[in-house]
Amino acid sequence: MANGLAYSRVVTSPEVMKQLAATLVPYLHPADVVVLTGDLGAGKTQFVQGVAQALGVRGAVVSPTFNIVLQYDSGRLPLYHFDLYRLDEGESLEDIGFYDIVDADGVSFVEWGDRFESQLPYDYLNVSITVDDSGARRVRVRSFGDRSRQMLCVWANDSKSRLMKCSGPRWS
Ligand SMILES: Nc1ncnc2c1ncn2[C@@H]1O[C@H](COP(=O)(O)OP(=O)(O)OP(=O)(O)O)[C@@H](O)[C@H]1O
Ligand SMILES: [Mg+2]
Repeated sequence: MANGLAYSRVVTSPEVMKQLAATLVPYLHPADVVVLTGDLGAGKTQFVQGVAQALGVRGAVVSPTFNIVLQYDSGRLPLYHFDLYRLDEGESLEDIGFYDIVDADGVSFVEWGDRFESQLPYDYLNVSITVDDSGARRVRVRSFGDRSRQMLCVWANDSKSRLMKCSGPRWS
């Protein structure tokens, strides 16, 4: 269950999406998990590319749709980028080594994690991206668990993130 905090802002370009993602990076610790939700083409991978850039990852960060998970070791922390869109619903996250990876030394960003919501770890940050009629993106952030709540507090207090407190939709 989300534990109370909800922030949002509108993002009008891919560059600004990457800049917003970069403002989260100073607050990331090993074993942090960020679940990205939103339709195809919403901007989830753009967000992860902004994180990768700010971590100092060298080289291209591409969508892991066909790999399920891609690992980048050249930044300040190892980055694990999951895309569960093509993972068969009959499979479990355990089958792909998800829990071993997310509990390890790096930070994990999980696209389409909501497809396996009942299997997600107890503590994670949810970044949800929706597209409005003009093409602008509304980014909503919620925390699930104590660690992600703490992470969201400091991120939202970072003036560069420009996240605004919101009541958000009801979620369970
Ligand atoms: N404000 C914006 N923020 C992010 N991306 C934007 C924005 N406006 C336009 N775009 C474009 O939308 C696309 C987002 O693609 P991206 O691969 O990040 O989506 P995705 O959510 O990861 O989709 P998928 O579920 O297919 O992996 C890019 O082509 C990007 O240039
Ligand atoms: Mg993607």
